[in-house]
Amino acid sequence: MKNFDIYKFRKNLKTKYLGKEFIYFNNVDSTNNAAFRINKEKALNGTIILAEVQTLGRGRGKKLWLSPYGGLWFSIIIKPKISPSKISIITLLSGLAVAETIKEMLNLDAKIKWPNDILIDNLKVAGILCESEILKNKIKKLVIGIGVNLNLDEKDLNILDIKATSCKIELQNEVNKEKFLANLLQNLENYYNKMHIPSELKIMLNKLRKIIIPIGHNVEIKTESEKLSGYAFDLANDGSLLLRIDNQVKSFTSSNIEYIRIIK
Ligand code: BTN
Repeated sequence: MKNFDIYKFRKNLKTKYLGKEFIYFNNVDSTNNAAFRINKEKALNGTIILAEVQTLGRGRGKKLWLSPYGGLWFSIIIKPKISPSKISIITLLSGLAVAETIKEMLNLDAKIKWPNDILIDNLKVAGILCESEILKNKIKKLVIGIGVNLNLDEKDLNILDIKATSCKIELQNEVNKEKFLANLLQNLENYYNKMHIPSELKIMLNKLRKIIIPIGHNVEIKTESEKLSGYAFDLANDGSLLLRIDNQVKSFTSSNIEYIRIIK
């Protein structure tokens, strides 16, 4: 396995702004942390921060995200002119971009376990961690952290307490990291540019509805305050999950969920 080749990446990159500015680390605590440390003026819209290894990679809910050599660990800095309420949609569209890239480039079927896990055959292959700096109800900086178990081996995953896989394991072949990232950024830029157009957003939401777990299942859901069970029947236009509970519709946003699991 070789280190990330920035020259090869640039040759593959067809975006207008995502990834034009590229910051590379061999080793960093967390690319999300690095993205927040970067001086405001230097952090251009679309800047990517990538690391071969993260020593303190972070997942959702203050969990540690193991990030050994071989994975694709990066963060995107976005300075969006949108309201903070749109962050859930951006998280989902980032997941869609990962799932679509896996499908288009590797021909593997990836699903999104709402809101931020990407799974292949129920095994976790990637995760998204969106974090933001908000001032007076405006997003000053949005950091989309994406971790893909790209070229990890079984031995790298054995130490995890979750059921996980990697693209390399699924394919029995190493994946071209530079090309994968360039394609992923292209998909994401495409979604991101179009999400402001209602008819286009509708198309993207419909794509999401087809691959989101647990739509179509009975679930148990735990929020900060209660544990409920119901039937997950749809995704709302703002990215929240809609559940039917005792003949009433309840909407859940990712921020207030501790876990959600499918039940019989
Ligand atoms: C999750 O599934 O809980 C989210 C995982 C997000 C991991 C990525 S790796 C790059 C970026 N830096 C981090 O510390 N976390 C995200």
